Amino acid sequence: MSKETMTTSNPGTETEDDDSLASPTPGSEAVEESSPSRSSGSERTVIESRNLDVYYGTEQALQSVDIQIPERQVTAMIGPSGCGKSTFLRCINRMNDLIDAARVEGDLLFQNKNVYDDDVDPVALRRRIGMVFQQPNPFPKSIYDNVAYGLRLQNKTENLDEKVEEALKGAALWDEVSHQLDESGLELSGGQQQRLCIARAIAVDPEVILMDEPASALDPVATSQIEDLIDELAQDYTVVIVTHNMQQAARISDKTAVFLTGGELVEFDDTQKIFENPEHQRVEDYITGKFG
Ligand SMILES: Nc1ncnc2c1ncn2[C@@H]1O[C@H](COP(=O)(O)OP(=O)(O)O)[C@@H](O)[C@H]1O
Ligand SMILES: [Mg+2]
Repeated sequence: MSKETMTTSNPGTETEDDDSLASPTPGSEAVEESSPSRSSGSERTVIESRNLDVYYGTEQALQSVDIQIPERQVTAMIGPSGCGKSTFLRCINRMNDLIDAARVEGDLLFQNKNVYDDDVDPVALRRRIGMVFQQPNPFPKSIYDNVAYGLRLQNKTENLDEKVEEALKGAALWDEVSHQLDESGLELSGGQQQRLCIARAIAVDPEVILMDEPASALDPVATSQIEDLIDELAQDYTVVIVTHNMQQAARISDKTAVFLTGGELVEFDDTQKIFENPEHQRVEDYITGKFG
């Protein structure tokens, strides 16, 4: 597996247009459903791992993970610290390429194509699979320029104002910032900054949004806004979210994957089933707070 050298913190957006990994616009063909009927809707698999192992040097961080992540639902990854949640998330859009010691074995399929195949361009992949991190990381630019950033890199500047507005609306931020688009993104509150990062991610029209503990640096009100937003995003996007907050997973996700120490995916099922009647004693012990 070749390693790419990347230099920015927003690897979804840094090259010119390249549609080699492009597909029809997501969501254009299906009737949209809103939660809670969403979980009984499309079960089409968008992301699938088979026998996925990840090592950092000699340490194994994920062990033979098999999972099928459904389209336009919220899939939560939970488990104790160090169990490999972030590692798994980073496999999906090949962010682990950026970690020298990381080695991936097995298959990670996105739309039935192995993202680790030699002919996959990780930059094009990351345009289709955007990412939001724990710490909001707006660029030191205006609110407008943050959202326009990826579109400009892709030369998609036609109707730029409309696209920026649409992305900010999609991130539930427009009403709060529409009169201050020229002000720095860094002047916003933490919760607004995180929604700005979500706007930046959705501006380039991805199919999947990966979120690694997106609310854990935020206060309860901002957290609640992000949770509401995630529910809305899942009408248009496949959302995969890592959280260490079990109540949050129970509140916002359709499916839950429970990883436990050693990098094992112990159970993956409908969120309600995981929280009310898990198959594995170890999962029940974790959910009920006996460890972790
Ligand atoms: N960049 C890295 N280099 C070496 N080891 C790492 C790196 N990132 C994570 N690990 C190790 O891999 C395991 C899983 O980490 P991680 O995926 O961050 O877990 P989680 O997100 O569930 O807390 C841990 O043992 C961690 O120490
Ligand atoms: Mg993590």
